[in-house]
Amino acid sequence: MSHFAAIGRVPGDPILGLLDAYRIDSNPAKLDLGVGVYKDASGLTPIPRAVKLAEQRLLETEATKTYIGGHGAPEFGERLLALTFDAGNALLADQLAGATQTPGGTGALRLAGEFVARNLPGRAIWLSNPTWPIHESIFATCGLRVEHYPYVGADNRLDVDAMLDALQRVPAGDVVLLHACCHNPTGFDLSQQDWQRVLEVVKARELLPLIDFAYQGFGDGLDEDAWAVRLFAAELPELLVTSSCSKNFGLYRERTGALIVRAENAEKLIDIRSQLAFLARNLWSTPPSHGAAVVAQILGDAELKTLWAEEVDAMRQRVASLRSGLVAALRPHGLDERLAHVAQQRGMFSYTGLTAEQVARLRNEFSIYLVSSGRASVAGMSEERLDYLAAAIARVCQA
Ligand SMILES: Cc1ncc(COP(=O)(O)O)c(C=O)c1O
Repeated sequence: MSHFAAIGRVPGDPILGLLDAYRIDSNPAKLDLGVGVYKDASGLTPIPRAVKLAEQRLLETEATKTYIGGHGAPEFGERLLALTFDAGNALLADQLAGATQTPGGTGALRLAGEFVARNLPGRAIWLSNPTWPIHESIFATCGLRVEHYPYVGADNRLDVDAMLDALQRVPAGDVVLLHACCHNPTGFDLSQQDWQRVLEVVKARELLPLIDFAYQGFGDGLDEDAWAVRLFAAELPELLVTSSCSKNFGLYRERTGALIVRAENAEKLIDIRSQLAFLARNLWSTPPSHGAAVVAQILGDAELKTLWAEEVDAMRQRVASLRSGLVAALRPHGLDERLAHVAQQRGMFSYTGLTAEQVARLRNEFSIYLVSSGRASVAGMSEERLDYLAAAIARVCQA
């Protein structure tokens, strides 16, 4: 008998499949707008200088490779909390918030899903439609019922009224996942006024927010991007936040992130953290150390922190200028108004509004690769290729 004979294949990640197709494309003009990693003008995903300097220090000072605890390195947790909530926030002094170090933001989402499944049985999780595809599968894998609220209308515009209308009908106690900034995949973010309205519904319906914070610094700035997280933490006694250091610290493969919990009182936080340590022990035992040690070095040193903050600023400004540059390049083709939203969106991605057919033509005729939903990774563009891209978009839009 073969134990494995009945096992079939699951389809590969469509975005990684796109990357494979891009790699074997021999057209020198090819352009990868699929994968969501930041790239500099030379097409590289750089290691920030602050990270390199922190690594040099670690090389000299790190004295052991023994396990770190289930919640990770305490100094990482404390400094990440200060970055998320601001160092002077009373929540921290009152020990109402704690961070559990995880393998990336994905690990934090998995831990959050397991926590809800085990400790809050029967609660569904509500995701924006659309959302990052891994949200869909990760919570389903945890055994949660996954539901959706609308986010973008058929006209490729953020539809806050439809979102609020749907949230108003969510059963009390359910979990609602919100993107703190730089919504993936659309790039459409809520305004401060929109966030206030969402908060009112969350309060009225007694929902538990889970805020995915994967792009701090890529929207409007490190503090600006934390605005909604800080508002919710101030206004609600209970909150989950998943933080990722992959993009803003350029630490992608080092798998660095945290699940942050805000609880009603310090005692309850200890209860919850005991549950998280138990779950983490059964998932990955203890988290990987290196990336978090780098982050702790940077955030704990005024000079490194300033350098890092400047580097995050530079990455954000580059993406913003590519957004406005693309709209400018579309102007001679008469498409700048139709695609004006590209300059208003935030973060790595843009829901361009291009159809699956237009995306296929971009790929087949111009070797320009984007996801079939029309999502383009703006960070994959470069200044000197904007005219080529704009001309290609014009061709597929006009024919
Ligand atoms: C919306 C969102 N959440 C979480 C993550 C988690 O990233 P990582 O696990 O690499 O830290 C990503 C990464 O692409 C993301 O786009």
